[in-house]
Amino acid sequence: MERKNRIWTVSSKGGVGTSTICVNLARAFAAAGQRVLLVDLDTTSPSLDVLLGVDNAVYDVRDALLGRMSIKDAAVRLPSSPNMYLLCGTLDPAGDLPLTKLDSALCQAEKDLGISVVLLDTHSPGRYAKTIASIVSHTVLVTEPLPLPLYAAEKCGVFMREIDAPNLKMVVNRYDFTAKPVSLCSMIDQVGVPLLGVIAKDEDMAQAQLHGKMAKEGASHNTVCGFRNIAHRLFGQHCPLFSGFKKFDRKKFIG
Ligand SMILES: Nc1ncnc2c1ncn2[C@@H]1O[C@H](COP(=O)(O)OP(=O)(O)OP(=O)(O)O)[C@@H](O)[C@H]1O
Ligand SMILES: [Mg+2]
Repeated sequence: MERKNRIWTVSSKGGVGTSTICVNLARAFAAAGQRVLLVDLDTTSPSLDVLLGVDNAVYDVRDALLGRMSIKDAAVRLPSSPNMYLLCGTLDPAGDLPLTKLDSALCQAEKDLGISVVLLDTHSPGRYAKTIASIVSHTVLVTEPLPLPLYAAEKCGVFMREIDAPNLKMVVNRYDFTAKPVSLCSMIDQVGVPLLGVIAKDEDMAQAQLHGKMAKEGASHNTVCGFRNIAHRLFGQHCPLFSGFKKFDRKKFIG
């Protein structure tokens, strides 16, 4: 089966905003009429349920992978966005999740639920990275415009190429457009991964997320545009990096 719309959001380093990117991309796809399944594969600090305001999940990814039930039955449909389904994450200290079952479970869910886009969220690449790389179509490496996250992204980029992570691209999150510009070209040079998009730093984001709100309600116009642009660009649609941004001089940030 062709796996053309499966996106893996992967951290370069803890706390850079990977799950935020995952959730808001899902919302951008859902807003464009796609039916979206999010799967929380962060086995150290799963958080998509909190970010989406889901507090009624009973089952999680372990139930689906151990074959106790299908993803269709284990996933929660979001009341606020009926085009979106979430399969919650689980801690996995023993490292015994049978991730090799994920592909067939996803194929079934894509059919059962009419899913057109799947997003898989993980922390930095760990023991399951190779398996995940083999079943997705796109890999989004998330970093921040700071020395340590960029260094971590550089290392991650090398590893992700070694495991043949498909369509590897980078998102720079929490970019402060109001401060002295940090060159995006120099980040691309350092990390060695093509740039997919830039998300603005938004002081209201953390507070909005506590209430399960999306960037649309809790973030600025340019942050929302950033997510929409990445969603367009992921599947090869022509969309300039800063399309729709307001009060913005792109030349200041590119060079
Ligand atoms: N663009 C942004 N502007 C401001 N704050 C942000 C932005 N993106 C994420 N954050 C905040 O950063 C914190 C970490 O975000 P998130 O949980 O998405 O990161 P993560 O990389 O998935 O973390 P973890 O390593 O725990 O999985 C959250 O409080 C979130 O609200
Ligand atoms: Mg996360």
